[in-house]
Amino acid sequence: MGLSRILPRSRPVADEPAADELVAEVEPQPESAPHLRAVPAPEPAPAAEEQMMAKIIAFANQKGGVAKTTTTLNLGVALREMGNRILVVDLDPQGNLTMSQGMNPDAIERSMFDVLVHRVPISDVIHTVEVDIAVASIDLAGAELSLSALIGRERALEKALVEVRDRYEYILIDTPPSLGLLTINAFVAADGVIVPVQCEYLSLRGLVQLENTLAMVRENLNSKVHVEGIVPTMYDGRTLHAREAIEILEEHFGDLVYDTRIRKTVRYAEAPVKGSSVLRYDPSGPAAQAYRDLAKEVLDGAQAREHA
Ligand SMILES: Nc1ncnc2c1ncn2[C@@H]1O[C@H](COP(=O)(O)OP(=O)(O)OP(=O)(O)O)[C@@H](O)[C@H]1O
Ligand SMILES: [Mg+2]
Repeated sequence: MGLSRILPRSRPVADEPAADELVAEVEPQPESAPHLRAVPAPEPAPAAEEQMMAKIIAFANQKGGVAKTTTTLNLGVALREMGNRILVVDLDPQGNLTMSQGMNPDAIERSMFDVLVHRVPISDVIHTVEVDIAVASIDLAGAELSLSALIGRERALEKALVEVRDRYEYILIDTPPSLGLLTINAFVAADGVIVPVQCEYLSLRGLVQLENTLAMVRENLNSKVHVEGIVPTMYDGRTLHAREAIEILEEHFGDLVYDTRIRKTVRYAEAPVKGSSVLRYDPSGPAAQAYRDLAKEVLDGAQAREHA
């Protein structure tokens, strides 16, 4: 398959944030109101001496249905539980992330479409539910076409996030199942990419194409973006096939593969019907715990790189 040639075996060291990414301190805002209300400033900014910039992570895999959206939301909520300020961004015209937090993408007035195409401030489309979420609506499907005519079309999201980057520890971007302009926007804005991979042989093959696209983005648009980690999803340890898929993944991607296995369970499909993460839907179940474990690994990985 030749996968070993395309990615380093150990996790690369993340770059320091660029000086021009530092933005002014924001006045503290009152705690955001609950469900479905647009909030101008989601959470208070930290004191000047500990001014932080969110780490931006895109969740991508051009293969559909591999748990990109499930991972974006549940990892976000798990990181929130641990005391981090989290923004999740729904960059998929399907609006599944938006729906997973109980909102109807067909009934949303302003969304990431307006942010990317009409330069509406992203804070205008942020709602606070379990985490802060910048919502998608169905018209995001037209964003690729509208953006394609604009100068700086690949940097629309990166520019939009400058406004809020000092209000969060993590900004997590859910992307559509393609490597089109929306996903490229996510790669340009991101420090790292987490790739959810279904534990099946056929799912592994698409990773080559994903890495080729990332290499192109690194060369031309964002030199720091790298694969942060690979999350094996929908794992069924009873099948030999799933175990073999993990072996192949680890053989080719080494340390990039997280130790946490997200097992196959219907809980992940049930929770979005209730407009909820699995951490709220079934807080003490193993499905919720899996994303808490993953959150710890993501935090540990970030720390290891800081001290490297
Ligand atoms: N670990 C899991 N076990 C069983 N089902 C899962 C698991 N993770 C996600 N699912 C379910 O699989 C389906 C696809 O998941 P999800 O929507 O997160 O994938 P996706 O990669 O975002 O899909 P798309 O490419 O369409 O955006 C959903 O119905 C989800 O509830
Ligand atoms: Mg999705």
